[in-house]
Amino acid sequence: MWEGLFREVILLIELKNVVKSFASPDGMEVHALRGIDLSVETGDIFGIIGLSGAGKSTLLRVMNRLESPSSGEVWIGGRNMAILSGDELRTARQDMGMIFQHFNLLSSRSVSGNIAYPLEVQRLSTGEIKDRVSEMLRLVELEDKADAWPSQLSGGQKQRVAIARALAGRPKVLLCDEATSALDPRTTRSILHLLERINSSTGVTIVLITHEMDVVREICRNMVILEDGVVVESGPVKDVFLNPKSRTAKEFLDDLPRTPSQDEELPKIVGSPLVILRFDGDAADMPIVSQAIKTTGVDVNILSGEIDSLRSSRVGNLTVQLSGNREEIEGAMEYFSRNGVSLEVIWNG
Ligand SMILES: Nc1ncnc2c1ncn2[C@@H]1O[C@H](COP(=O)(O)OP(=O)(O)O)[C@@H](O)[C@H]1O
Ligand SMILES: [Mg+2]
Repeated sequence: MWEGLFREVILLIELKNVVKSFASPDGMEVHALRGIDLSVETGDIFGIIGLSGAGKSTLLRVMNRLESPSSGEVWIGGRNMAILSGDELRTARQDMGMIFQHFNLLSSRSVSGNIAYPLEVQRLSTGEIKDRVSEMLRLVELEDKADAWPSQLSGGQKQRVAIARALAGRPKVLLCDEATSALDPRTTRSILHLLERINSSTGVTIVLITHEMDVVREICRNMVILEDGVVVESGPVKDVFLNPKSRTAKEFLDDLPRTPSQDEELPKIVGSPLVILRFDGDAADMPIVSQAIKTTGVDVNILSGEIDSLRSSRVGNLTVQLSGNREEIEGAMEYFSRNGVSLEVIWNG
């Protein structure tokens, strides 16, 4: 019972066995979501990554009930969105803001007018709307653009307006569907860092859909990988980066210049295994390789490697060749494992 209570407090979003199928024109069914379980903690920045067609947009649309699930439960802030209707659904939707790849601003309204729009729908007073619009313009650092028209803005500025509009009603969660996919890399980073600042200053939970691993790596704390409507990987971003299990995760990581490809031409010497060492924050800063050499007598030949920043911590990997007698090699492997380094033997000599 206590566990049930506790989970309700910290989990903002919980999906249980969510299925969504569409009837296609040829009479076949498209299974967009095939039994999704996932949970998002209050205040998290949560990434959903997958290739095109994996079901990401459908998943977001099921969360805010633009789409009804075929079956399953969609709990958002203690309400099962899957069964709400009418006024209850309208109230529940006010807890959710959404931004899109193509911004979807109203071209006939000024920047302020766009931000005011959802507040007018919610029938706030003119004074309240004015105050809230100013507050939002400050939040996204666009105070000088209050009276500009969308057509006068850059892509990054348009997305800032969309963020201000989505947050104007003070939702509990901001759903972002490929929000940076139409932006250049520098603007992408500035939007992501704005989202990160907003998350820490307001506490709003952010769910971010993307097909780019870089986006997840930049700001997300937890993530799932979606493949053909199924969650194939989930957990803290750092764990998924360090120990990718699914094919999709490995492919996404291969796109980044940090995981060594196993097909590389690596020297194969009988009796000298090739090993990928993956380490995180603490281990990355320790002279762990030289310690292993000193402690076990093994010889370590570093073939390739990289250290990378992941939010505030660092992760890294080294592809090494271990030489020595069997005892030294096994001793070194044991030494690495004991010191928090995960180890993948890619050729066992
Ligand atoms: N309204 C719809 N009608 C029929 N099929 C759909 C509909 N929406 C999505 N799909 C199908 O569901 C699958 C997942 O689509 P989507 O959620 O848009 O993927 P993603 O956002 O990851 O690219 C695709 O095969 C897509 O064609
Ligand atoms: Mg999509």
